[in-house]
Amino acid sequence: MKDKKIVVELSEVTKRYQIGTNVVHALSGVSYAFESGCFCSIQGQSGSGKSTMLNLLGCLDSPTSGSYFLNGQDVSKMDDEQLSAVRLSHIGFIFQSFHLIPQLTVSQNIQLPLSYLGWNKDKSEDRARELATLVDLKDRMDHRPVELSGGQQQRVAIARSLANNPKLILADEPTGNLDSATGGQVMEVLLELNRQGKTIIMVTHTSEIAAHATSAIHMLDGKIDRIKS
Ligand SMILES: Nc1ncnc2c1ncn2[C@@H]1O[C@H](COP(=O)(O)OP(=O)(O)OP(=O)(O)O)[C@@H](O)[C@H]1O
Ligand SMILES: [Mg+2]
Repeated sequence: MKDKKIVVELSEVTKRYQIGTNVVHALSGVSYAFESGCFCSIQGQSGSGKSTMLNLLGCLDSPTSGSYFLNGQDVSKMDDEQLSAVRLSHIGFIFQSFHLIPQLTVSQNIQLPLSYLGWNKDKSEDRARELATLVDLKDRMDHRPVELSGGQQQRVAIARSLANNPKLILADEPTGNLDSATGGQVMEVLLELNRQGKTIIMVTHTSEIAAHATSAIHMLDGKIDRIKS
Protein backbone atom coordinates (compact mmCIF):
# COMPACT_ATOMS: atom_id res chain seq x y z
CA MET A 1 0.00 0.00 0.00
CA LYS A 2 1.26 3.46 -0.90
CA ASP A 3 2.33 5.59 2.08
CA LYS A 4 0.23 8.67 2.77
CA LYS A 5 2.01 11.97 2.24
CA ILE A 6 3.00 13.80 5.42
CA VAL A 7 1.99 17.49 5.35
CA VAL A 8 3.09 18.56 8.79
CA GLU A 9 5.76 16.99 10.97
CA LEU A 10 6.66 18.07 14.49
CA SER A 11 9.83 16.64 15.99
CA GLU A 12 10.68 17.03 19.69
CA VAL A 13 9.00 20.43 19.79
CA THR A 14 9.10 22.39 23.03
CA LYS A 15 7.61 25.77 23.89
CA ARG A 16 8.59 27.60 27.05
CA TYR A 17 7.24 30.89 28.32
CA GLN A 18 9.19 32.84 30.89
CA ILE A 19 7.12 35.34 32.88
CA GLY A 20 9.41 36.98 35.45
CA THR A 21 11.07 34.12 37.30
CA ASN A 22 8.27 31.70 36.45
CA VAL A 23 8.86 29.31 33.53
CA VAL A 24 5.86 27.64 31.91
CA HIS A 25 6.54 24.52 29.85
CA ALA A 26 3.60 24.79 27.46
CA LEU A 27 4.94 22.02 25.19
CA SER A 28 7.48 19.46 26.41
CA GLY A 29 8.72 17.40 23.48
CA VAL A 30 5.92 16.86 20.97
CA SER A 31 6.56 14.66 17.95
CA TYR A 32 3.81 13.85 15.47
CA ALA A 33 3.29 13.56 11.71
CA PHE A 34 -0.04 14.68 10.22
CA GLU A 35 -1.03 12.97 6.97
CA SER A 36 -2.30 14.84 3.95
CA GLY A 37 -6.11 14.84 3.86
CA CYS A 38 -6.52 13.87 7.52
CA PHE A 39 -9.15 15.34 9.82
CA CYS A 40 -7.41 15.26 13.18
CA SER A 41 -8.90 16.37 16.48
CA ILE A 42 -6.83 17.57 19.43
CA GLN A 43 -8.32 17.18 22.90
CA GLY A 44 -7.02 17.61 26.43
CA GLN A 45 -7.69 19.56 29.57
CA SER A 46 -7.38 23.34 29.81
CA GLY A 47 -3.72 24.40 29.84
CA SER A 48 -2.46 21.13 28.29
CA GLY A 49 -0.91 22.98 25.33
CA LYS A 50 -3.51 22.54 22.56
CA SER A 51 -3.63 26.17 21.42
CA THR A 52 0.14 26.50 21.78
CA MET A 53 0.58 23.55 19.44
CA LEU A 54 -1.99 24.86 16.94
CA ASN A 55 -0.39 28.33 16.96
CA LEU A 56 2.97 26.74 16.13
CA LEU A 57 1.40 24.66 13.37
CA GLY A 58 -0.22 27.85 12.05
CA CYS A 59 3.10 29.73 12.02
CA LEU A 60 1.65 32.25 14.48
CA ASP A 61 4.50 31.42 16.84
CA SER A 62 7.89 29.64 16.85
CA PRO A 63 9.03 26.72 19.04
CA THR A 64 11.68 27.15 21.74
CA SER A 65 13.38 24.01 20.42
CA GLY A 66 12.68 21.15 18.05
CA SER A 67 11.65 21.30 14.42
CA TYR A 68 8.50 21.77 12.41
CA PHE A 69 8.31 20.80 8.75
CA LEU A 70 5.44 21.99 6.55
CA ASN A 71 5.31 20.31 3.14
CA GLY A 72 8.92 19.25 3.70
CA GLN A 73 10.10 22.80 4.45
CA ASP A 74 11.66 23.55 7.87
CA VAL A 75 9.64 26.49 9.21
CA SER A 76 10.87 26.30 12.82
CA LYS A 77 13.81 28.63 12.24
CA MET A 78 12.03 31.20 10.09
CA ASP A 79 11.71 34.86 11.08
CA ASP A 80 8.34 36.62 11.42
CA GLU A 81 8.28 37.86 7.84
CA GLN A 82 8.98 34.41 6.41
CA LEU A 83 6.36 32.90 8.71
CA SER A 84 3.66 35.30 7.52
CA ALA A 85 4.50 34.49 3.92
CA VAL A 86 4.10 30.75 4.65
CA ARG A 87 0.85 31.44 6.53
CA LEU A 88 -0.58 33.46 3.67
CA SER A 89 0.15 30.86 1.04
CA HIS A 90 -0.44 27.56 2.86
CA ILE A 91 -2.61 27.92 5.97
CA GLY A 92 -6.16 28.92 6.90
CA PHE A 93 -6.87 29.59 10.59
CA ILE A 94 -10.27 29.54 12.35
CA PHE A 95 -10.60 30.80 15.94
CA GLN A 96 -13.17 30.14 18.66
CA SER A 97 -14.16 33.82 18.83
CA PHE A 98 -14.24 34.27 15.02
CA HIS A 99 -11.76 37.24 14.99
CA LEU A 100 -13.71 39.14 12.35
CA ILE A 101 -13.07 42.86 11.97
CA PRO A 102 -16.27 44.59 13.18
CA GLN A 103 -15.96 47.66 10.94
CA LEU A 104 -15.69 45.56 7.77
CA THR A 105 -18.50 43.89 5.83
CA VAL A 106 -18.72 40.13 5.30
CA SER A 107 -17.25 40.58 1.83
CA GLN A 108 -14.36 42.74 3.09
CA ASN A 109 -13.59 40.33 5.94
CA ILE A 110 -13.39 37.42 3.51
CA GLN A 111 -11.11 39.44 1.22
CA LEU A 112 -8.59 40.35 3.96
CA PRO A 113 -5.96 37.68 3.12
CA LEU A 114 -6.30 38.55 -0.56
CA SER A 115 -5.54 42.22 0.10
CA TYR A 116 -2.24 41.13 1.70
CA LEU A 117 -1.56 39.00 -1.37
CA GLY A 118 -2.18 42.01 -3.64
CA TRP A 119 -5.20 40.65 -5.55
CA ASN A 120 -7.00 43.25 -7.65
CA LYS A 121 -10.44 44.48 -6.56
CA ASP A 122 -12.61 42.67 -9.14
CA LYS A 123 -10.89 39.31 -8.76
CA SER A 124 -10.96 39.63 -4.98
CA GLU A 125 -14.67 40.52 -4.89
CA ASP A 126 -15.50 37.59 -7.16
CA ARG A 127 -13.57 35.25 -4.88
CA ALA A 128 -15.42 36.61 -1.80
CA ARG A 129 -18.78 36.03 -3.53
CA GLU A 130 -17.78 32.47 -4.46
CA LEU A 131 -16.73 31.71 -0.86
CA ALA A 132 -19.80 33.39 0.68
CA THR A 133 -21.92 31.15 -1.57
CA LEU A 134 -19.99 28.11 -0.38
CA VAL A 135 -20.81 28.88 3.26
CA ASP A 136 -24.38 29.90 2.37
CA LEU A 137 -24.04 33.63 3.10
CA LYS A 138 -24.27 35.06 -0.39
CA ASP A 139 -27.16 37.34 0.63
CA ARG A 140 -25.19 38.81 3.58
CA MET A 141 -22.19 40.17 1.69
CA ASP A 142 -22.74 43.78 2.81
CA HIS A 143 -23.64 42.99 6.42
CA ARG A 144 -21.28 43.64 9.31
CA PRO A 145 -20.39 40.89 11.83
CA VAL A 146 -22.62 42.38 14.56
CA GLU A 147 -25.63 41.85 12.27
CA LEU A 148 -24.94 38.12 12.02
CA SER A 149 -25.59 35.16 14.33
CA GLY A 150 -22.62 33.35 15.91
CA GLY A 151 -22.86 30.47 13.43
CA GLN A 152 -22.98 32.88 10.50
CA GLN A 153 -19.95 34.76 11.85
CA GLN A 154 -18.02 31.50 12.11
CA ARG A 155 -19.00 30.65 8.52
CA VAL A 156 -17.58 34.03 7.43
CA ALA A 157 -14.38 33.17 9.31
CA ILE A 158 -14.27 29.81 7.51
CA ALA A 159 -14.76 31.57 4.16
CA ARG A 160 -11.94 33.98 5.04
CA SER A 161 -9.65 31.06 6.01
CA LEU A 162 -10.27 29.59 2.53
CA ALA A 163 -9.65 32.79 0.55
CA ASN A 164 -6.08 31.89 -0.43
CA ASN A 165 -7.08 28.27 -1.14
CA PRO A 166 -4.85 26.72 1.56
CA LYS A 167 -4.49 22.94 1.77
CA LEU A 168 -4.20 23.06 5.57
CA ILE A 169 -6.98 24.40 7.81
CA LEU A 170 -6.34 24.83 11.54
CA ALA A 171 -9.31 25.40 13.82
CA ASP A 172 -9.07 26.23 17.55
CA GLU A 173 -12.39 25.29 19.15
CA PRO A 174 -14.38 26.40 16.09
CA THR A 175 -17.68 25.42 17.71
CA GLY A 176 -16.74 26.54 21.25
CA ASN A 177 -18.93 29.67 21.17
CA LEU A 178 -21.87 28.03 19.41
CA ASP A 179 -24.88 26.01 20.57
CA SER A 180 -24.77 22.35 19.56
CA ALA A 181 -27.11 22.68 16.52
CA THR A 182 -25.17 25.65 15.11
CA GLY A 183 -21.87 23.94 15.96
CA GLY A 184 -23.13 20.91 14.01
CA GLN A 185 -23.71 23.10 10.93
CA VAL A 186 -20.19 24.52 11.17
CA MET A 187 -18.84 20.96 11.48
CA GLU A 188 -20.75 20.02 8.30
CA VAL A 189 -18.88 22.78 6.43
CA LEU A 190 -15.53 21.54 7.79
CA LEU A 191 -16.34 17.91 6.93
CA GLU A 192 -17.26 18.89 3.37
CA LEU A 193 -13.96 20.77 3.03
CA ASN A 194 -12.14 17.66 4.26
CA ARG A 195 -14.02 15.53 1.70
CA GLN A 196 -12.77 17.97 -0.94
CA GLY A 197 -9.19 17.21 0.14
CA LYS A 198 -8.33 19.83 2.76
CA THR A 199 -6.25 18.68 5.71
CA ILE A 200 -7.98 19.78 8.91
CA ILE A 201 -6.51 19.91 12.41
CA MET A 202 -9.05 20.95 15.02
CA VAL A 203 -8.88 21.57 18.76
CA THR A 204 -12.12 20.77 20.55
CA HIS A 205 -13.39 20.19 24.09
CA THR A 206 -16.45 18.35 22.87
CA SER A 207 -16.33 14.57 22.35
CA GLU A 208 -19.29 14.62 19.90
CA ILE A 209 -17.39 17.11 17.75
CA ALA A 210 -14.15 15.09 18.03
CA ALA A 211 -16.03 11.96 16.94
CA HIS A 212 -16.26 13.41 13.40
CA ALA A 213 -12.48 13.32 13.06
CA THR A 214 -10.56 10.47 11.41
CA SER A 215 -7.70 10.61 13.90
CA ALA A 216 -7.39 12.01 17.40
CA ILE A 217 -4.62 13.30 19.61
CA HIS A 218 -4.99 13.71 23.35
CA MET A 219 -2.69 16.08 25.22
CA LEU A 220 -1.65 16.18 28.86
CA ASP A 221 0.82 18.59 30.47
CA GLY A 222 2.37 19.74 27.20
CA LYS A 223 2.77 16.24 25.77
CA ILE A 224 0.77 13.94 23.51
CA ASP A 225 -0.35 11.16 25.85
CA ARG A 226 -2.75 9.23 23.57
CA ILE A 227 -3.21 8.84 19.84
CA LYS A 228 -6.19 7.25 18.07
CA SER A 229 -6.01 6.76 14.32
N1 LIG B 1 1.63 33.86 25.87
C1 LIG B 1 1.79 33.09 26.92
N2 LIG B 1 2.58 33.48 27.95
C2 LIG B 1 2.76 32.69 29.04
N3 LIG B 1 2.19 31.50 29.20
C3 LIG B 1 1.38 31.05 28.23
C4 LIG B 1 1.12 31.82 27.05
N4 LIG B 1 0.28 31.13 26.26
C5 LIG B 1 0.01 29.98 26.91
N5 LIG B 1 0.67 29.93 28.10
C6 LIG B 1 0.64 28.83 29.09
O1 LIG B 1 0.95 27.63 28.38
C7 LIG B 1 0.13 26.55 28.85
C8 LIG B 1 -0.62 25.96 27.67
O2 LIG B 1 -1.57 26.93 27.22
P1 LIG B 1 -2.56 26.66 25.99
O3 LIG B 1 -3.22 27.95 25.69
O4 LIG B 1 -1.81 26.01 24.90
O5 LIG B 1 -3.60 25.61 26.62
P2 LIG B 1 -4.90 24.96 25.99
O6 LIG B 1 -4.71 23.48 26.04
O7 LIG B 1 -5.19 25.57 24.67
O8 LIG B 1 -6.02 25.37 27.06
P3 LIG B 1 -7.57 25.78 26.85
O9 LIG B 1 -8.30 24.48 26.68
O10 LIG B 1 -7.93 26.45 28.14
O11 LIG B 1 -7.69 26.69 25.67
C9 LIG B 1 -0.76 27.13 29.94
O12 LIG B 1 -0.19 26.82 31.18
C10 LIG B 1 -0.74 28.62 29.68
O13 LIG B 1 -0.90 29.33 30.86
MG1 LIG C 1 -6.75 26.82 23.95
